[in-house]
Amino acid sequence: MSTLLDVENLWVKFPTRNGVFDAVRGVSFTLGRERLGIVGESGSGKSMTGRAILRLIRAPGMVEADHISLEGQDLLKMSEKEMRDVRGQRISMVMQDPKFSLNPVMTIGDQIMEAYRLHTNASKSVAYTKSVEMLEAVSIRDPERVMRAYPHEMSGGMGQRIMIAMMLIPNPEILIADEPTSALDVSVQRQVLDIMDRLVKERGMGLIFISHDLNLVSDFCDRVLIMYAGRIVEVCEADKLHEAKHPYTRGLLNSLPRLDKPRDRLEVLQRDPAWSEAPSVSGRI
Ligand SMILES: Nc1ncnc2c1ncn2[C@@H]1O[C@H](COP(=O)(O)OP(=O)(O)OP(=O)(O)O)[C@@H](O)[C@H]1O
Ligand SMILES: [Mg+2]
Repeated sequence: MSTLLDVENLWVKFPTRNGVFDAVRGVSFTLGRERLGIVGESGSGKSMTGRAILRLIRAPGMVEADHISLEGQDLLKMSEKEMRDVRGQRISMVMQDPKFSLNPVMTIGDQIMEAYRLHTNASKSVAYTKSVEMLEAVSIRDPERVMRAYPHEMSGGMGQRIMIAMMLIPNPEILIADEPTSALDVSVQRQVLDIMDRLVKERGMGLIFISHDLNLVSDFCDRVLIMYAGRIVEVCEADKLHEAKHPYTRGLLNSLPRLDKPRDRLEVLQRDPAWSEAPSVSGRI
């Protein structure tokens, strides 16, 4: 499988009053033309890993790595201007909270059309038609009304789908999707997953799919990295996630409610300090 992205020894550090906090600690993995899941409990470093790839960690936070290579080019060696081109065209990210990513004083339509025209130099009327089509593709009902609306008039699930539509306009080589379907109901979730799936299968896009939903990741992804306290503790084939060996992964699986084995109380995850001390497992292939 051809490697799109190669991340080696990634650290994300935040200076605090009590010293430096390491949110991501020496993570290595590769991404091919595949659906790579990242799972782990809240605070385990999933979002920071995604943002670090695009160098979107705000100061005083710092990103360090041996390299973060996009088809052989080290993103860490690029200028801020070169990075902006990468962000606009080659790697897109759907942020966990889409409300913060949309401009609150611009209509949805103006934002999508602007994104489209930036990449194609299309006329306004072509951009309008294409934008409506993009909204339809992510199952937005009444796209003409949504084009005229402002972000605060959208529900959380609509905001997520609008972001997904915008991120797919430049036809990126890599999409980093941070909890992209968590605010969606099951039927819309399926449609959004199908869109991403098609992009991977038909256009050879690489997808990093961040989620805390182990069942969803197991169904949808090809490979999964399991993160704990800023490190990868286990890597497995997605369809074998339920056979995972690491006690943390087992704990995450056992704390999921199951219809076939109902229990009065769900298990509380017991942690072992050794998990966060063990070196990060490599997710490279
Ligand atoms: N600006 C910051 N300053 C200090 N620590 C931070 C900052 N931003 C994030 N962190 C810490 O980095 C760690 C990893 O955060 P991250 O957002 O990657 O978690 P996550 O796995 O995405 O969690 P969730 O499932 O809740 O989204 C957390 O412990 C968080 O508190
Ligand atoms: Mg997160």
